[in-house]
Amino acid sequence: MTKKLFVKTYGCQMNVYDSARMADVLAPLGYAPADGPEQADMVILNTCHIREKAAEKVFSELGRLKRLKAERDGAMIIAVAGCVAQAEGEEILRRAPFVDIVLGPQTYHRLPEMVAQAARAGGAVLDTEFPPEPKFDFLPGPQAGGAAAFLSVQEGCDKFCSFCVVPYTRGGEYSRPAAAVIDEARRLVDQGVVELTLLGQNVNAWHGEDGWGFGRLIRALAEIDGLKRIRYTTSHPRDMQDDLIAAHAEIDKLMPFLHLPVQSGSNRMLEAMNRRHDRDTYLRLVERLKAARPDLALSSDFIVGFPGETEADFADSLDLVRQVGFVQTYSFKYSARPGTPAAGLPNQIPEPVKEARLAELQDLLNEQTRRFNTACIGRVMPVLLDRPGRHPGQLIGRSPYMQSVHVDDIAARLGQVVDLRITELYPNSLAAVPADAERMRA
Ligand code: 5AD
Ligand code: SF4
Repeated sequence: MTKKLFVKTYGCQMNVYDSARMADVLAPLGYAPADGPEQADMVILNTCHIREKAAEKVFSELGRLKRLKAERDGAMIIAVAGCVAQAEGEEILRRAPFVDIVLGPQTYHRLPEMVAQAARAGGAVLDTEFPPEPKFDFLPGPQAGGAAAFLSVQEGCDKFCSFCVVPYTRGGEYSRPAAAVIDEARRLVDQGVVELTLLGQNVNAWHGEDGWGFGRLIRALAEIDGLKRIRYTTSHPRDMQDDLIAAHAEIDKLMPFLHLPVQSGSNRMLEAMNRRHDRDTYLRLVERLKAARPDLALSSDFIVGFPGETEADFADSLDLVRQVGFVQTYSFKYSARPGTPAAGLPNQIPEPVKEARLAELQDLLNEQTRRFNTACIGRVMPVLLDRPGRHPGQLIGRSPYMQSVHVDDIAARLGQVVDLRITELYPNSLAAVPADAERMRA
């Protein structure tokens, strides 16, 4: 009898990738995907530790799973994976003794042993090591889930921004060898993938043997026949090498959309955050990227209310946003994280001040997104159709700028890139029609 596995993913795209790979690792043990925890023999929570709110969600979800497991007289394996597991493994086992397995982001290739051990021991298994062997060397070939796929090429971070837990939960910077990345890309393309998003906590810090830089890797991947689009995330301004900028000019497959977190527009805050770049460096970098690829659109991350942030510092952030113009953004209230240097800084900002600043920043950012989306009406864009829509005959795809675009009654298949004319703006998507209806029908 096949067993059922349900993986619930929190946080970033790296976790989405890891969740898929955990399912790949467990497939040989007979685990097939379940639609929800109710149907599952094993549940994995793949957790995120980046902000307090994200971390707290885990414990409320565990409360629900505890009841579910009790209803089944304990016949359910519960595993907590990811960054909360890495940072608070012991605490999880103390607060939730019904959890069977706690594993960090670097040990999930060992999941089959952990499952066997949990069955034998009757006690919990905790594995939050940073093993010397990279997990990637032990993972089975990837299973593509559609036309677009994630591919993890780099992991961990050596930058130590003073607010961030990533260097502690994911460990130091590691780059997968170019050959392994290209091989995984080929396997995905063979399964029908046409768009790859290269992932890393600091993806553009990727470096290969023989002095390969990230730009070189993108050039090599662009050679793969059948691969139509390449993206990457998340990048650090410090690692935007000349060759990578040049790749944006030269490689058509590299999409004109870049997530380049800046966090703040204030030099004083950037310094306190240990970002290793200042405001002008960022602005000049954006200029160079746009010179290389004039249709490039930018997305970013912002933190408001970092310790010591004054009204003037915050005004600098608003000013940078106005100067750059972002099409899509993620902005957060600073959240003090245990073990990070910034958590111990004086002048922590009161919650209501953070809230007011976040609201003001988001108003501006949302307005920029809306303006960009409105300007897309009437434009023709190549859209990768990658999922069915809600209505019969409708397909949904992604534009070069990661906008969701839906189109009715189109003679095209999932996985195709088609030229669509954008006609209308919806709250979270765009409507479109085939740009050349006659040619489509033919
Ligand atoms: N508080 C608020 N936001 C944070 N981020 C990372 N750490 C924190 C924190 N302690 C944000 C940054 C980062 C994104 C992934 O999450 O903006 O780029
Ligand atoms: Fe965290 Fe900074 Fe590393 Fe990004 S670059 S993962 S924000 S420490």
